[in-house]
Amino acid sequence: MPEKYDFLILGSGGAGLSFALRVARYGTVAIVTKKDSAESNTNYAQGGLASVLDHQDRFEDHVNDTIIAGAGLCHPEIVEMVVREGPDVVKELLDWGARFSIRDGVLDLGREGGHSYNRIVHAADRTGKEIEQTLLTALDDHPNISIFEHHFALELITQHHLGRKVTRHDDDISCYGAYVLNTCTGKVDAILAKSTLLATGGVGEVYLHSTNPSIATGDGIAMAYRAKARVANMEFMQFHPTTLNVPEANSFLISEAVRGKGGILRDRSGKAFMKDYDERAELAPRDIVARSIDDYLKKSGDNTVYLDVSHIDGNELSESFPHIMETCRTYGIDIASEWIPVVPAAHYLCGGVLTDKDGRTSIRGLFCAGESACTGLHGANRLASNSLLEAMVFSKRAAVVAADYIKDSQWVTGIPEWDHSGTTNVEESILISHNKQELQKVMWNYVGIVRSDLRLKRAFRRTRLIYEETEDFYQRTMVGVELCELRNLIANAYIIIHSAMSRKESRGLHYTTDHPFQIEKACRDTVI
Ligand code: FAD
Ligand code: SIN
Repeated sequence: MPEKYDFLILGSGGAGLSFALRVARYGTVAIVTKKDSAESNTNYAQGGLASVLDHQDRFEDHVNDTIIAGAGLCHPEIVEMVVREGPDVVKELLDWGARFSIRDGVLDLGREGGHSYNRIVHAADRTGKEIEQTLLTALDDHPNISIFEHHFALELITQHHLGRKVTRHDDDISCYGAYVLNTCTGKVDAILAKSTLLATGGVGEVYLHSTNPSIATGDGIAMAYRAKARVANMEFMQFHPTTLNVPEANSFLISEAVRGKGGILRDRSGKAFMKDYDERAELAPRDIVARSIDDYLKKSGDNTVYLDVSHIDGNELSESFPHIMETCRTYGIDIASEWIPVVPAAHYLCGGVLTDKDGRTSIRGLFCAGESACTGLHGANRLASNSLLEAMVFSKRAAVVAADYIKDSQWVTGIPEWDHSGTTNVEESILISHNKQELQKVMWNYVGIVRSDLRLKRAFRRTRLIYEETEDFYQRTMVGVELCELRNLIANAYIIIHSAMSRKESRGLHYTTDHPFQIEKACRDTVI
């Protein structure tokens, strides 16, 4: 017997949890999340959330900074809307109990690359953890909200599951919930819902080196793509310029706020090289800084650059960056006196499931917010700390529309049980991990910071082979998390490569040596 809820939320990061808090007064809510509820990209966010809060700062400047970073692809009306709604979502977070850093009695506003003013609300260097915990505490024991941890969403339920042929040109697709795997029991259930929110986050795991935790496998985007939703701008993967270059550190992020405080990028001889690339130096938008480091490393033959904060007062460092300081110390680096070895790593997906200004996707009853969405805010390159802002604003807007939507919507009947027929428990999970590693290497080597036609073609061919092997394996095998994540990663890789191949110019985060310039007539979203 399927379970039924008014609202089904896939994902328990900032977007999913804040949506839950907002809709719970209108009906029953199920939050499905594949690990512990706190495990999300949100939980690891460091720098903060960008918003105009100082009386000397101006909405126009935040809008302008966002649009400049976005390299011509931001939707100006969306940027304007999000920036203007920023202060309200910050207030809401404070009302829910978030304890952001205070200086001289007011919110301490930090600075990051591409921002013309100090406007980053933060909780020292663990802003995401503060937001995640605040939201989880606020919804704890809410009578209308059930959280299903260790439940993995497999597929969105649409008319396809009622036997209708659904095509990519279909304008009449509805979402009725999702098939969900209980990862502790192996049982798959249909959870029916009047409205469904995709808040499954990004896809950093598709690259060999990424700042993201292992949950970031683009499941929601892959599910939406299979359900024939529109997906956009997937070629724009953002690489963060500064992650700790120590093998065991797993691309631990050294926040952009460190450069905002005056951190200087140096080569091994001590030369501060960023001015050679951009007059904004360390505070240029992060696509420029990441590409400059990549170029510098290639030209010099070095395998690392360094971030120097040794000139900044030690007390200031420990107050602003306690987590970064502590983590570096565990790897034997005292940041107050030693340079931090850093390299870029995959960080944030600007594309995703296409939504309108209220988080509606092209599928009726399916909403999307947070990193899995492409809302028009980021364009070809996201401005630092605009993603937590986007997640909060769009979950708020989607909540209003979804609450209205469920008034006229019914639970569907006749959804079949998950079909396990013809599958067995194949004891060859090594195939899954090998294919995953291969995919991550292909994406890192050929679809990274700098691309070319040849590299993209090569990536396409390799990915196709991995896809065929994996699909064959999938048809014969009982569903499991690792295999499903691999399929989802492959789907995302395919869309990223396809989108990158179709953009015959360089713009924002998509830089290709075969088409090194921005072309006016290519200034449009890549919609699949
Ligand atoms: P997430 O927070 O990633 O949540 C996704 C949720 O979906 C998780 O709970 C996950 O388990 C669940 N999920 C995924 N797939 C499934 C499935 N199949 N079934 C069930 N559940 C599933 N942005 C900023 O604006 N400022 C910052 O300072 C900042 N710092 C960052 C630092 C790091 C290290 C990282 C990785 C990101 C940072 N970002 C920052 C980006 C920002 O954190 C994310 O874009 C944002 O938190 C995304 O929120 P979300 O709710 O969309 O997704
Ligand atoms: C950081 O702290 O550098 C991350 C900020 C972001 O991703 O927006």
